[in-house]
Amino acid sequence: PLFIPDTLSGTIFNLTAQNSTKVFYTGFNTPTHGYNGNFLGPTLIINNGDSITLNVTNTLPVPTTVHWHGFHVAPKNDGGPHQIILPATTWSPSFRMLNQASTFWYHPHGEGKTEIQITRGLAGMIIVRDSAEASYALPRKYKVDDFPLIVQSSVFDILKQFRTGSHADSILMVNGTMNPYLQVPKQVVRFRLLNPSADRTYYFGLSDSSSFHLIATDGGLLSQPFTTNRIRLSTGERAEILVDFGADTIGQQKYLMSYASELPRGIIGADSVGTSTIVIGDGYYNNPLNGANFNILRFDVVAPTASPVTTIPSSFAPLIPIPTASATVTREIHFSPDTAGQNGIDAFVEGGFFMNNKSFHMDSINEIVYLNDVEIWTLTNGTMVAHPFHIHDIEFFVVDINGIPPPPQYSGLKDVILVKPNDTVRFITQFKTFADDSVPYMYHCHLLHHEDEGMMGSFLVIDTSLTGISEIDLSSTIKVFPNPTSGKINIFTLKHKITSISVLNMMGETILNNSFRPVIDLSAAPNGIYFIEVKTEQGIVSKKIVLLK
Ligand code: C2O
Ligand code: CU
Repeated sequence: PLFIPDTLSGTIFNLTAQNSTKVFYTGFNTPTHGYNGNFLGPTLIINNGDSITLNVTNTLPVPTTVHWHGFHVAPKNDGGPHQIILPATTWSPSFRMLNQASTFWYHPHGEGKTEIQITRGLAGMIIVRDSAEASYALPRKYKVDDFPLIVQSSVFDILKQFRTGSHADSILMVNGTMNPYLQVPKQVVRFRLLNPSADRTYYFGLSDSSSFHLIATDGGLLSQPFTTNRIRLSTGERAEILVDFGADTIGQQKYLMSYASELPRGIIGADSVGTSTIVIGDGYYNNPLNGANFNILRFDVVAPTASPVTTIPSSFAPLIPIPTASATVTREIHFSPDTAGQNGIDAFVEGGFFMNNKSFHMDSINEIVYLNDVEIWTLTNGTMVAHPFHIHDIEFFVVDINGIPPPPQYSGLKDVILVKPNDTVRFITQFKTFADDSVPYMYHCHLLHHEDEGMMGSFLVIDTSLTGISEIDLSSTIKVFPNPTSGKINIFTLKHKITSISVLNMMGETILNNSFRPVIDLSAAPNGIYFIEVKTEQGIVSKKIVLLK
């Protein structure tokens, strides 16, 4: 039977990341991680508007982080790579739940450690409730007519230990259960689909190809249910669907499937990715799931529950996308392989992928956004593989995909969007509520090894209305990045009038002196440590920087 995680609710949530084992194969104790258990974690149920505290204790022997994927929270509460939870410590972010009702999830986001920790079991679902969603006649009795379905594909080695960095992920699990079945009542049932797999995209459908109803995507309910027989879900995405078993007979069986044979080339899970001339040496083309239609979960129809939901609502509250004319800033994020010509599918096989020709660095800031700005971001994919783009802090509306308005599945609020090879995806969003001049948010590819390998960037949200910065704050309000740099250095300040900038080498010799320019270039200087002296009307700030070409 399908395992259904327990729930935690209220306003204080205690999670312990722990080492454990689980018997997936008789006679083998597979080393696992879990939150409050041996694999995956409890489903958190949170009400919009509540002030909550999440106490996360790390009993693992290694550092971890916990990111609340999809939440609109301050960067210090976000659980990205900068909010490290050391072994034997507890991290306790507190914040008000600002997201509207939807399905979210939590997972580690440590620098370079996301894939291994999620694969071993650190992931859990979050259900946010609100009064708007509660006003519709929808199934919402957890484990009765509302079920979490966390669909993962994994690789086990000969000792039945999880392997990462492989495309031989042929073992499917739902909520950590292999070959699962679920008794479903003969009525309308809600499923919350989450794909936390390392890189596989699923193309969900029912085995009789009958229709179901997509009601919500990453950020909440659509304007109206979208009736379809296929839903594509890449890593990180969520979808809520209603399946009407009312016309089925008791005892009938059908399957939730992935129709991966219908996925276009370039999406991981399809029959082919990359160029045909690149040989993927890690099992992609031997993996029976790739390009195949396969069963994921068997449904066994049983008698209806008391007071069942029997109809599909005709509409929800209309979604009003932000008008594109209100955007004042546009940015482009371009995906590229690290070396010209290496258009393979993976970092560990062919080298990494970049965003705007850069790899993630903990101490660099890639983009600076101003609080309350409405921005349009254009994502372009110059690689041979599809990458699911995810951004923290905000939810966005897709403006268009290759110039065409989004299909119904992408018409609602999103925080992940799959960008196929050669696609151009534009989204619009507003960076509201939270600003922090030193703790960044992340945007990245949600393929777990791409994120680990640095296909990620950071952005600060800056509140320019801040006044009265004291001299003590001077140093922290002047940013010099990236650090290390390969030559170009950006100098950024919130408030201070910069009068001049000098660069000194380790011997204290001035190698550059100018009136203020926001970008200086050290690419002609030898590699080493330099001091950037920024003179302002409030005083002088010196920043150390590493030049590494
Ligand atoms: Cu689901 Cu930045 O992550
Ligand atoms: Cu990627």
